[in-house]
Amino acid sequence: MNIVVTGGAGFIGSNFVYYELANHIDDTIICYDALTYAGNLETLDAAMKNPKFKFVKGDITNREEVNALFKNEKPDIVVNFAAESHVDRSINNPDLFLRTNIMGTCVLMDACRKYGIKRYHQVSTDEVYGDLPLERPDLFFTETTNLHTSSPYSASKASADLLVMAYHRTYDLPCSISRCSNNYGPYHFPEKLIPLMIINALHDKKLPVYGAGENVRDWLYVEDHCSAIDLIIRKGKAGDLFNIGGHNEKRNIDVVKIILKALDKPESLIEHVTDRKGHDRRYAIDPTKIKNELGWSPKINFDDGIKKTINWYLTHKEWWEHIISGDYQEYYKTMYGNRAKL
Ligand code: NAD
Ligand code: TYD
Repeated sequence: MNIVVTGGAGFIGSNFVYYELANHIDDTIICYDALTYAGNLETLDAAMKNPKFKFVKGDITNREEVNALFKNEKPDIVVNFAAESHVDRSINNPDLFLRTNIMGTCVLMDACRKYGIKRYHQVSTDEVYGDLPLERPDLFFTETTNLHTSSPYSASKASADLLVMAYHRTYDLPCSISRCSNNYGPYHFPEKLIPLMIINALHDKKLPVYGAGENVRDWLYVEDHCSAIDLIIRKGKAGDLFNIGGHNEKRNIDVVKIILKALDKPESLIEHVTDRKGHDRRYAIDPTKIKNELGWSPKINFDDGIKKTINWYLTHKEWWEHIISGDYQEYYKTMYGNRAKL
């Protein structure tokens, strides 16, 4: 089979590329990526040596480029990871999120209709459900929880999901959707919580925790997300939707303290700063459906996953040093330079 992986030079997409190359050696994986600030060809160095892998640079919002990709590569399956993915950036620049995340999905699905595919898979997020109250640990997101978005990022992802469902119903396009909780692991871009805290701690720089740090995220090791998507595209029915998560809920402040302890750094590095606007309080996935219907379960718990992740950042300094030595410095100044300390 030919599998197009859009956004395969980013965090989860690249992990998925490696997962597919390792687990389905007869399939050809074509990564299609615009190489925005979040895309990194160095991440794909090892894949480039594999004859079953191909990289094509292109933008999912560009119809001409996308049509040429489908004409040349004749994909059986398209897995769409390409997106603007950072909530904080979406608060400063919503329109780019609407263009990439909604229009890009539309352009890809139009090409799927035109050229025919066996499956279009949309990689979505639990953030489409909004948030849960901190004082109700009994509540979880299921596939029937109402969409209720808080940020321009999550609103763009929810819009894309609605479009996918509409293409399935109107055009009978064989689509599926997965909504996963927060991922962590290798190749995670340094702007996100876990890599940012690891890298700042290694530099003895302050660790900026938004507000009191009591917001809860449900963490899943990235390889477990990849194994779930792999099952959905091969065994899940067209038109189906699955939540993905492993019940690893943690308060941000506790994640930060775990990282400091593992790196033997003092908690005095923690600095509470102005909260994110519209900050979602708690995410928590109920993964019962994918467990019962596809037999998926996560293999890596948070204690092991965070150790593996910290170790990866310690042994791949070159990868992240290249990133933080470029435009990232400007980004960091804009986002954190004027943020008041609490
Ligand atoms: P990322 O920001 O690390 O990577 C995004 C990739 O998409 C980059 O390689 C970038 O170059 C590429 N891209 C951006 N715009 C593009 C365009 N117009 N055309 C082609 N390529 C483009 O993101 P990620 O964290 O790997 O997330 C991947 C997907 O998973 C996203 O759709 C995101 O919404 C979803 N998701 C992420 C998480 C998480 O915890 N990171 C959780 C659930 C779902
Ligand atoms: P993030 O990694 O941006 O993922 P998301 O917003 O998609 O959940 O943030 C995870 C949590 O960490 C979120 O509650 C915001 C918080 N956070 C901080 O406290 N400080 C930071 O510098 C960052 C980037 C995030």
